[in-house]
Amino acid sequence: MSEATLRAEGLTKSFPGVRALDGVDLSLRAGEVHVLLGENGAGKSTLIKILSGAYRPDEGRVLMDGRPVEIRDAGDARRLGISTIYQEFNLVPDLSVAENLSLGRLPRRFGLVDTAAMQRRARELLERVDVRVDPRTPVRRLGIARMQMVEIAKALSLDARVLIMDEPTAVLTTGEVGKLFAIVRRLRDEGVAIVFITHHLEEIAEIGDRVTVLRDGRSVAEVPAGTPQDELVRLMVGRPVDQQFPRRPAELGEPLLSVRGLTRRGAFDDVSFEVRAGEVVGLAGLVGAGRTEVARAVFGADRYDAGEVFVRGRRLPPHDVHAAMEAGLGLVPEDRKGQGLVLGAGIGENLGLVTLRDATRAGFVDLKGQRTAAARVAEQLGIRMTGLDQEVRTLSGGNQQKVVIGKWLAAQAGVLILDEPTRGVDVAAKVEIYQLVNALTDSGHAVLMISSDLPEVLGMSDRILVMARGRLVGELRADEATQDGVMALAVTDVAGSRAE
Ligand SMILES: Nc1ncnc2c1ncn2[C@@H]1O[C@H](COP(=O)(O)OP(=O)(O)OP(=O)(O)O)[C@@H](O)[C@H]1O
Ligand SMILES: [Mg+2]
Repeated sequence: MSEATLRAEGLTKSFPGVRALDGVDLSLRAGEVHVLLGENGAGKSTLIKILSGAYRPDEGRVLMDGRPVEIRDAGDARRLGISTIYQEFNLVPDLSVAENLSLGRLPRRFGLVDTAAMQRRARELLERVDVRVDPRTPVRRLGIARMQMVEIAKALSLDARVLIMDEPTAVLTTGEVGKLFAIVRRLRDEGVAIVFITHHLEEIAEIGDRVTVLRDGRSVAEVPAGTPQDELVRLMVGRPVDQQFPRRPAELGEPLLSVRGLTRRGAFDDVSFEVRAGEVVGLAGLVGAGRTEVARAVFGADRYDAGEVFVRGRRLPPHDVHAAMEAGLGLVPEDRKGQGLVLGAGIGENLGLVTLRDATRAGFVDLKGQRTAAARVAEQLGIRMTGLDQEVRTLSGGNQQKVVIGKWLAAQAGVLILDEPTRGVDVAAKVEIYQLVNALTDSGHAVLMISSDLPEVLGMSDRILVMARGRLVGELRADEATQDGVMALAVTDVAGSRAE
């Protein structure tokens, strides 16, 4: 067997109050896709941050081609041929795509930045990942799926021997995942050693060769990627987890949310639907179908040109988030980093953000009540933290996700819109979130759930609405819906006839 391209031995890393890694070993061969699997907070990102020079280990060493190497910073990693796509995007939002792709390596002529060369190179890189976007576009204007593709293009530009990808598929749609996998296979065949992190178990057998399982900061197993899913889950969680969707239909009451004729030119057109007390309505469709746009307009985050939104029969003023929240509407946004969290504040404070108003009684903020509520939600969601004061910035990706969802659970909004609620969340925590959704509808709340995960939409909705190109094109009862049925509607073209 060939020498490992990279070996990590006995890596240990502690942060205040938590041992993130405890003697972890990893061996990477040239030409393999090595999957890192573990629950939220298991230490996956910490491990790859050591390999990419973002963190120094407390103990342990890294060898390349059998020789110990020092990775003190990102420059060292780059010189050793280690390239990383981080879970948190590393792009600068106000710079253009081309500038981001050249960051730190701007082509110069006569001391000036050679813009033409920069654009040309950006175009080539974007072509490699098959993404159509003008290199002059500011990154902040891209959706998160395209941001991720730019991030990938950037990592590819370094011609790495070791390519590390931290949950690259979390924000991608099926089509883009296909493109990414084609790129990954090509690089693997060229002999690149690839580390691939994902919470989508079905991707493991499809793209992986071997799997290292981390649990509580330890490497507990190294198994082939073809290992059955329930066995992988058992290794990662330490016990079997029922991956079924535990939807428990509740008794339906009055319509709590009514949307009539909602239209924003160029985005969505004549969208009407209702969600009743006790009901989970799934909103399915391809990315770009306009689901997030509708959700944001309903919540008042964006304007609309025509139509009306009612909560409990009361009409909401358009483009007024405060009025929407006042009326008992909540939105867990798709882009949590950008819109959901105050990263520098503690978990308790973040969980309390939307309840602050409720907690203010006669001018006093009921801090104690707020903390009790926050502690309860953190416990329910199993947020892995050192305490409520830990800064959200230092939580693992999946645990940050849970804080955003928890924030709205703590707020007890009557109508909750969840936009991709389980993205980046491990299998065990997903089930917890589903159970919370059940608890919400049991107590008379209404839930609108946008999800690109078809089994999830089918498994957790009572009724499924399908959007295509800005229009609602169909509605299915959960018990009669199939993945194929939803997909057939999702590719409907605007004229109403089905695409082949
Ligand atoms: N900078 C930091 N300061 C304090 N604690 C940290 C820091 N970075 C990570 N941690 C902690 O280390 C542990 C491991 O986190 P890590 O990000 O490696 O998890 P992960 O396996 O990538 O999880 P996820 O699937 O949620 O992304 C967590 O308990 C996290 O809160
Ligand atoms: Mg992580």
